[in-house]
Amino acid sequence: MPRDDAALLFAGTSQAYVTYRPGYPMALFDHMAAQLAFTPETRVADLGCGPGTATIPLAERAGTVLALDPNSEMLHAAREAAQRAGMGNIEFRHGHAEHLPEMDAGPLEHVVFGRSFHWTDRAAVVAMLDALLPPHGAIVLLGPGRSEKGAWHRWPWDEAIREVRESFLGPERRAGTGTYSHPETGHEQVLEAGGFGWIERYGFTEHVEYDLERVLGLQRSYSHSAERLFSGRYDEYLEAVRAAVTAACGPGPYRIDKRDSMVIARRPQRHPDSDAPEHP
Ligand SMILES: C[S@@+](CC[C@H](N)C(=O)[O-])C[C@H]1O[C@@H](n2cnc3c(N)ncnc32)[C@H](O)[C@@H]1O
Repeated sequence: MPRDDAALLFAGTSQAYVTYRPGYPMALFDHMAAQLAFTPETRVADLGCGPGTATIPLAERAGTVLALDPNSEMLHAAREAAQRAGMGNIEFRHGHAEHLPEMDAGPLEHVVFGRSFHWTDRAAVVAMLDALLPPHGAIVLLGPGRSEKGAWHRWPWDEAIREVRESFLGPERRAGTGTYSHPETGHEQVLEAGGFGWIERYGFTEHVEYDLERVLGLQRSYSHSAERLFSGRYDEYLEAVRAAVTAACGPGPYRIDKRDSMVIARRPQRHPDSDAPEHP
C-alpha cells in the first residue's frame, strides 16, 4: 500500500521545487535514451513526476510519456512545464505508482523514478512492474550520486542545516503526517529481489554555483522542511538557517560538484537453449 499521506508529503512545496531544485544533466537523459534505444514509438512512465523535472527531457527523447503523481499541485506544475516547453506527447495521471495497473496507462516499455522510488512501497511496485513491463523493459532510478570515494553526494551546508532543523522539529526526519527513515534494504537489492537483477549504474557530475538565497529556497522544496511543518515559525527557521550556513560555509556564492546517478535495472535475459541467465 502507498503511504496514505503521499499527497501531503510535498504539500505547498511545488513552486519552490520548480524554482530552486536542480534538475538532472541532459547527458543523463541522452545516455538513458541510447542505452534503452528510445524510438518515436517508445512509451515511458515517469512515476512521481513532481513538477516535471524528468518528464520534459524524457518527452524530448521518447515517443510518449505518462507522468504520474499523487500530489495535485505537483501535477499542475508539471502540466504548466509541459505547456511552456510545447510538449504535446505527455499524458498526466493523478495517483500513486502502486495503482498504475488501474489507471488505463496503456502499454509501457520503461518506467523512470526521479527521486521518488523511496516514497513507494518498493517491493510491491517492482512486482507490479514485473507483471506490466515487456521482457526488455527497464526500471530506471534517478537520484543523488556518489563521489569518487564512494560517499553519497551531500551539499556542504547539509550538516549545519540539519542541526537547525532538528532544533525546530526534533531529531526524526518529518514526512507528510509522520516521519521517514532510510530503509535498511537498498534500492538495488529490492530491484534484484523482484527479478530486475541486471543492473547498470551511471554517475554524472555538473559544476554548479549557488548563492545563499538558493540554499534557503531549497529548504522550502524539501518534504522534511516544508513550511507547513513549522507552525508559523518558518521565517524564524530560515533566518536561523541563513546564520548557520554563513557560519559554516561563508556568505557564498558556493561552487559545488553536483553528482547525480542513474540506475538502469532490467531482467537478466535468458538464452532460449540455456537455463543460465545472461545479459544481452
Ligand atoms: C522528490 S519529488 C521528485 C520529483 C521529480 N521526479 C524529480 O526528479 O525531481 C518526489 C515525488 O514523488 C511523489 N510521490 C510520493 N509518493 C508517491 C507514490 N506512492 N507514487 C508516486 N509518486 C509518489 C511526490 O508527490 C513527489 O512529487
